Amino acid sequence: MLPLSRGKPRGIKPYRLRLIKENPHIIYWTKTGRPRYKIYADEYEGLPLGNVWDDIPAINTMAKERIGYPTQKPEALLERIIEMASNKGDIVLDPFVGGGTTITVADRLNRRWIGIDQSVQAVKVTEFRLQKQTDLFTAPYIVQLYKYDYDTLRYNDAFEFESWIVQQYGGTGNVKQRSDKGIDGKAFDGAPIQVKRSDNIGVNVIKNFSVSAKQFDKSLFEKNMAAGKQVGYIIAFSFGRGAIEEVSRLKNEENIIIKQVRVDEIIPIAVKPVIGVHINELERDDKGSRKIEFIATGQSPAGIEFYSWDFNYDKEKGFKASIIIDKVGKQVISLKTGMHNIAVKVVDNDGLENMEIIKLKINV
Ligand SMILES: C[S@@+](CC[C@H](N)C(=O)[O-])C[C@H]1O[C@@H](n2cnc3c(N)ncnc32)[C@H](O)[C@@H]1O
Repeated sequence: MLPLSRGKPRGIKPYRLRLIKENPHIIYWTKTGRPRYKIYADEYEGLPLGNVWDDIPAINTMAKERIGYPTQKPEALLERIIEMASNKGDIVLDPFVGGGTTITVADRLNRRWIGIDQSVQAVKVTEFRLQKQTDLFTAPYIVQLYKYDYDTLRYNDAFEFESWIVQQYGGTGNVKQRSDKGIDGKAFDGAPIQVKRSDNIGVNVIKNFSVSAKQFDKSLFEKNMAAGKQVGYIIAFSFGRGAIEEVSRLKNEENIIIKQVRVDEIIPIAVKPVIGVHINELERDDKGSRKIEFIATGQSPAGIEFYSWDFNYDKEKGFKASIIIDKVGKQVISLKTGMHNIAVKVVDNDGLENMEIIKLKINV
């Protein structure tokens, strides 16, 4: 096939045109109808990359990608390295995540990735950076911190929590999307586990569980009873007095041992930081915008790590930080007339966060 379909060659001498037609492997037509030589990579010497790559500029103080992380590398540099060294779907591991450049670029280039860092700030900055580029096509990812936030554990998706906490306890979660006759998984010794995502669970939970544990696997139940071992486990945030008494009654009177396990015995739980925002109206500038000062104050027994701001917060899209690292919690921005949604997140030294949304109307 001759590559003549793209443009209409005009004014080319017939003998040249014939040469072009006869040599489609070395000449092609541009969109605008000009002939060009094809250059094949294996025939072309090119410019080998040396040890010093100075064609990628360092991040300057005004760069859009700048997040304020002290050793931040340009994304173009990581793009080159990742594209040279991996293919789509490969796994990129960065055990020293820092500001998260490698991970965010790997994510954008459709690589799978694992990032690790000892610093909470590094993990949270990377998370906010990933969130910023997240859209409908982004593959899901998990951010794993050392401590867990009580509210998230207690009130997010129940099934997800049940199978996750069973795994944290060394067991295997139910594959079904709901518990099977009150059994949510099996412990490391095969005994059934029930998860109650509530506080102060009552006496009936224990009574019902002793029945369902037996139904779950009668011979295992009897074997454990005979051996003086626990017949099952109940995991909950806390146990009420009635439940505790029923557990000891079952043990003493019926030789049935049920082990009560509190969530905070399995994983460390902390309470997320508290956040408040104070707003000061400053002068109007010459373009008719109003300067507003926002002062965020966070409180946490763990101490505050940093604040992040989204000056154009949209609930549907989620938090997309305009400023990722703000150590002080103070921002002055110019806002035009109309409604504005501003979100600020506070992150504490355990990596737990909280967010406040400010709806602000700027009058003419
Ligand atoms: C310069 S940053 C890395 C930059 C990063 N690779 C990127 O793509 O931008 C170095 C990071 O290593 C982390 N780090 C240092 N020693 C560590 C360790 N033993 N375990 C985990 N992280 C560590 C620091 O907390 C810091 O965030």
